[in-house]
Amino acid sequence: MKSDDDNKITMDDQIKILILDDEERITEKLKFHLEKSNYSVITANTPKAGFAALDDNEVDILLLDVILPGMNGLDILKKVKEKHPVVQVIMISGFGDMDMVIQAMRNGAVDFIRKPFQVMDIQLAIERTSKLIRLQNKLQKVENKQSLVSKELESFVETEFVGKSEAIKQVLKIAIKAAKDKDVNVLITGENGTGKEIVARIIHYASERNDKGFAPVNSSAIPESLLESEFFGHVKGAFTDAKGERSGYFELAHEGTLFLDEIGDMPFALQAKLLRALEDGKIKRVGGNREIPVDVRVISATNRDITTMIEKNEFRIDLFHRINTIIIDIPPLRKRPEDIKPLVKHFVEMFANKKKRAVPEIDKNVYTKLMKYAFPGNVRELRNLVERAMILTDNGILSEEDFPVTIDMKSSGGNTGIDSFNLDDNEIQIIIAALKNAGYNQTVAAGMLGISRDALKRKIKKFGIEIKKEI
Ligand SMILES: Nc1ncnc2c1ncn2[C@@H]1O[C@H](COP(=O)(O)OP(=O)(O)OP(=O)(O)O)[C@@H](O)[C@H]1O
Ligand SMILES: [Mg+2]
Repeated sequence: MKSDDDNKITMDDQIKILILDDEERITEKLKFHLEKSNYSVITANTPKAGFAALDDNEVDILLLDVILPGMNGLDILKKVKEKHPVVQVIMISGFGDMDMVIQAMRNGAVDFIRKPFQVMDIQLAIERTSKLIRLQNKLQKVENKQSLVSKELESFVETEFVGKSEAIKQVLKIAIKAAKDKDVNVLITGENGTGKEIVARIIHYASERNDKGFAPVNSSAIPESLLESEFFGHVKGAFTDAKGERSGYFELAHEGTLFLDEIGDMPFALQAKLLRALEDGKIKRVGGNREIPVDVRVISATNRDITTMIEKNEFRIDLFHRINTIIIDIPPLRKRPEDIKPLVKHFVEMFANKKKRAVPEIDKNVYTKLMKYAFPGNVRELRNLVERAMILTDNGILSEEDFPVTIDMKSSGGNTGIDSFNLDDNEIQIIIAALKNAGYNQTVAAGMLGISRDALKRKIKKFGIEIKKEI
């Protein structure tokens, strides 16, 4: 079944041939025969008309007469190869001159036919060339896929997910559970820079689908007019710029994972098409009729509140139900300050490694300072701060001056992660965070809080804070 499908010439891959010969009798005769064999054929009788035809059409094969008025066929060949390198050129000559053959082949012609010829000769040459073109298209597809794979590998280096807060442990636990079921769709929510993509990659790599592609698509980064063909691919000529046939993200992610980043930004019209593809498990390329089965797991991510979008009719509720079988919400960094220390250490080591430098010491005031900061850009911002500090420091020690964040209570007011303005509530949270960060060493925690150890003990008692580990 499969090989049959691979070899069959469907209407979708119809080969387009341009015949350039000064004798109209020849061009018309060839056109007649080739069209009978289901090729799409255009003709030109002068070099000028030939170049115009190449500019205006997606030509696969050029049948080129060596002798043409006004321009030598070999010169035309060179120019065609320069301007349209993908066009395969079959030369036709009345001379049968071997030197000419050799020169033409050296200049990139793919085949050669001598006059007088039988229509059959031409048909065979075109059949050979078509096979080559299809093979090249296939290789191109494999290459496209591999570039996705190698991008994955690069990012794989960064798939280490750091954090010791309960919230982040929970995120990881659900991610691993989701990975175990290779078909369940997952929606990851969280503010910018909280690690949504890294979690999506973890799910993919921890799943059975890990030997196939992870295809990330951010629909807000693609012009709306191209979105459909990016997702579903297109057949040649489906629209003005449809240069050749192309597969879309669905096909690239076949048997792998399709990561729909910023799904909240997906235009409403495309949402319906996406839903249909997910429900049917098959797609059609834009402009094509063939149904292509696709088996993908969808992981979506968003930093927007989809429920509000549904209320405003900006997001389809049926699609929402389709993609959210499992929801993973990653809390902002300011709500899990105990992750700051391990993350700083992780990024410091990572950059030292990348820049082939010794791992610098980190002054403990760095943590105290960063724990007071609201991190509107979350983990990405922390990562950038560390990279910057590593560049700025010149004494092998990272100190708080290397982290020039402004602890501006006013500007971070709406964004501090403080759920209430009740002082006691917030005091408890800060004390718990300090204790966790200090590994439950009360002396260290008291230092971080700027109070005495006894004062800390009193507060622990007052608030009934549970101490997991005594010093
Ligand atoms: N827990 C973590 N451990 C290690 N690195 C992390 C963690 N969380 C995030 N990062 C790093 O922070 C950066 C941002 O993460 P990511 O791109 O996954 O965030 P995002 O939620 O997709 O952000 P955006 O909404 O802006 O697209 C990345 O460099 C990622 O490697
Ligand atoms: Mg992202």
